[in-house]
Amino acid sequence: MDRIVITGGKPLRGEVRVSGAKNAALPILASTILGGGECVITNVPRVVDVVTMSKLLDLLGASVRTEGSQVAVSVERLRSTEAPYELVKTMRASVLVLGPLLARWGEATVSLPGGCAIGTRPVNLHLAGLARLGAELTLEHGYIRAKAGRLRGARICLDTPTVTGTENLMMAACLADGTTVIENAAKEPEVADLAAFLAKRGGRIAGAGSDVITVEGVQALHGADHEVIPDRIEAGTYLAAGAMTGGDICVEGCLPWHMEAVVMKLREAGAELVEGKESIRLKAPRRLRGVDVKTFAYPGFPTDMQAQMMALMCVAQGTSMITETVFESRFIHVPELRRMGADIKVEGNHAVVNGIEKMTGAPVMASDLRASAGLILAGLAAEGDTVISRVYHLDRGYERIEEKLGGLGAMIRRVKGGTGVAAAGRRA
Ligand code: UD1
Repeated sequence: MDRIVITGGKPLRGEVRVSGAKNAALPILASTILGGGECVITNVPRVVDVVTMSKLLDLLGASVRTEGSQVAVSVERLRSTEAPYELVKTMRASVLVLGPLLARWGEATVSLPGGCAIGTRPVNLHLAGLARLGAELTLEHGYIRAKAGRLRGARICLDTPTVTGTENLMMAACLADGTTVIENAAKEPEVADLAAFLAKRGGRIAGAGSDVITVEGVQALHGADHEVIPDRIEAGTYLAAGAMTGGDICVEGCLPWHMEAVVMKLREAGAELVEGKESIRLKAPRRLRGVDVKTFAYPGFPTDMQAQMMALMCVAQGTSMITETVFESRFIHVPELRRMGADIKVEGNHAVVNGIEKMTGAPVMASDLRASAGLILAGLAAEGDTVISRVYHLDRGYERIEEKLGGLGAMIRRVKGGTGVAAAGRRA
């Protein structure tokens, strides 16, 4: 298994370009199942989750061709309507094929995603919504089995604004008979990007990006080309890295208006940020001030930036508090940060961080995608070497992160296979 070795303490400087958004690319790829004709998707990040989604589409019978950051998919016929356990257990977002399979092909068998490191993460709202659209759903041997004739439009009010749930229902509703209204819908830019793609294919959707989405069902969708929006979480991760190392960086190819909550918090912490049309320049003082953060659905502060922000707070001046409101156990990075000297107390969904002058490098273990990013950031600001193992979590969602951070002057490298232990504790 690969490890990442970081020698910290160096302020980041220079420019870094963000890739396409993983969380937009995944539903867009899943939605290709909804219609015939070729779909050419560009700005697709080269990350393991995208490879997993491409494998799933291929398994279902789609033709998938990948060239760099472009993926061309056509789905004329299917050989299977089943998303197997082996794929779903490696990527929960596989559940995104449920709505499209059911709507176009009348049936779907999808392994029920289990809990994951950050919480129980049920899909009950996806299922209740599909049932409202007329699907018959049963659970057998760990698989959701769904059947339907043509789905019927309905009014669906979500208990909580689930992102992939909204996407599943929006996709299914595109081919339903009549009008579907999704209330309390997720407002994330990735939901709006999926809607933009579906509209190019002939889907009739209004309101995506707001909390009420209206979909008029159509008979069929055709092929279309689409460029995926930039990854706001990747961009935010680099900004946090620049900020906590006292850096001076420019994040290129991002959309600042997707990132207001993060930009605001970094400013409150004392960094200077200048927003361009598709870039953000950040200059940070030697040491930031602590800030309080509460995670929330978009446009609130993203839970996917919580671990990175916690790493930043660990070395800021004063006390900070994080309140995690989206996932119930998303503090698993805390014990690893403590190994680097961080002073963090957790009580329920609150974490109180007392900033210290310097963390010290240590061998640490990644537990999920964003926790890994938090540990990388901690390593960049720490004194000495940090060795991060289980970096496959990181590879699920960040494209060439060590190369991109290296381009900003970070001393970071990947150690292929082996233990990499020799590197730990040694100063480069
Ligand atoms: C998506 C993102 C993930 C991000 C999360 C929250 C993708 C591929 N993943 O995940 O990176 O961290 O949004 O911004 O886009 N819930 C239910 N029942 C359901 C569905 C969700 O109770 O049927 C709850 C969840 O447990 C959680 C909350 O709703 O507490 C939000 O989760 P949700 O928006 O569904 O997250 P994902 O779509 O899985």
